[in-house]
Amino acid sequence: MDLLELRADFLRQEELSRAVELPRKTDLPVILTVRRPGEGGKWKGEERDRVQLLGKIGSAGFAFLDLEEDLEAPDLERRVLASGPRIIRSLHDTRGVPEDLTRRVSALARSPREIPKAAVTPRGALDLLRLLQVFQDLGPLQKVLLGMGDFGFPSRVLAPKLGSLFCYASPPRESAAPGHVDPQTLDELFRYHQIGPGTRVFGIIGNPVMQSLSPEIHNSGFAALGRDAVYIPFLVDELEPFFQVADSLGVHGLSVTVPYKEKVIPRLERQDPSVSAIGACNTMRRGTDGKWEGTNTDAPGFLAPLLSAFGGRLPPGLRATVIGAGGASRAVVHALAANGARVLVLNRTPSRAEQLAREFGVQAAPLDSGVKLMARFNDLIVQTTKVGMSPLSAEDPVPDYVFSGKEVAYDLVYVPRTTAFLKRALAAGCRVVRGDQMLLAQAFEQFRFFTGSDYPDEATRRLRIFSRYPA
Ligand code: ATR
Repeated sequence: MDLLELRADFLRQEELSRAVELPRKTDLPVILTVRRPGEGGKWKGEERDRVQLLGKIGSAGFAFLDLEEDLEAPDLERRVLASGPRIIRSLHDTRGVPEDLTRRVSALARSPREIPKAAVTPRGALDLLRLLQVFQDLGPLQKVLLGMGDFGFPSRVLAPKLGSLFCYASPPRESAAPGHVDPQTLDELFRYHQIGPGTRVFGIIGNPVMQSLSPEIHNSGFAALGRDAVYIPFLVDELEPFFQVADSLGVHGLSVTVPYKEKVIPRLERQDPSVSAIGACNTMRRGTDGKWEGTNTDAPGFLAPLLSAFGGRLPPGLRATVIGAGGASRAVVHALAANGARVLVLNRTPSRAEQLAREFGVQAAPLDSGVKLMARFNDLIVQTTKVGMSPLSAEDPVPDYVFSGKEVAYDLVYVPRTTAFLKRALAAGCRVVRGDQMLLAQAFEQFRFFTGSDYPDEATRRLRIFSRYPA
């Protein structure tokens, strides 16, 4: 159901007088709301004046009036209801999810013409799980039930699947409540209007995760293939309740990012050998028996653009330097060593480089003194640290290394697309591989793991994710 909400508490005094004109100017049913500050609103006047305002403009063709649970204004209700609008009887909790939410929502409606609405604030995965339980408890009751904030985000996008009559969205830069998405993103990216009870849910778990580019990649792919599926960010603070959320929603597949790539491994019933070799899982899907299967697409995602750069296969005896010894470096070193490359790992903290070198049978050296060894491992130089990314975007992790021009330089950083390290390599005439190519390639591998289909070319052409970032 598409509706418009007029948040009269956002209007300036001179605009208020024109509020009555809105219902006539649109074909959509309009909700009139004048929200108090305690519930996240901006109304600054007296309560008496608020009730008077609702009465004065409420009868001007509005389809719904939002009246709070504790508002006692029988005159207003009688007068306004006689003129047509239905009441949305609302309950807000900007601090949590009330213990007795099921009972309170059931008791909200004072007549069959009223729609109960609860907007609550999950503070973690456990609260989101409790909110989903309330959906189940309330069953087919006509209602609006929403989780505010980032932890509540899935409940908003999935409103049509869960059985909430609608969710709220507001224009970018003028968000009316925490966690609102703008209507265009909701419609075009998440395809809200196509979501229904049978829609398959996929997503990404991490912390932080709300700025992830994966939803755009996967949702564009689903749209191009005409799949009844949606991919959403799940901000996760605790894995145990989150996996109950995933069961409750019937989540089919997950991308996994920091800090959970290692922590999800015990939940896997089956895993690809790459998971144990790298010690990290970045992709999970539900097997036919409902149990989780895991893989790691970082290694093939890293290799795909590299193979293109080398014309289809890595040259035998390729000698490579990998800068950094963190999680990303593990996938890179695994991929290179498994493909016969001779690898030197350089790291600021030498013990981490040595540990990695022992595990994968490669060489290690400290980042500063090891630079002179690079001349013997320079067919390929892979940069896996955060140096080059904001706030270190002016920095180069190996400023003393002089490029000959014959190296392939590969930087995993994708914002900015061309780091200080890659700029120097380009200036010397090197071929370069940018981090966005790996990001896309590992996502395309995930898409295949989720759907069994190749990522559609049509969706690749439409992706706009990188246009938002500096070159
Ligand atoms: P990721 O999963 O992205 O690899 P990580 O596991 O935290 O993240 O690893 C970060 C890598 O970047 C490490 O190799 C780290 O070096 P240390 O092991 O010495 O911490 C490296 N790194 C981060 N900041 C750095 C800096 N300013 N200079 C050099 N290396 C840096």
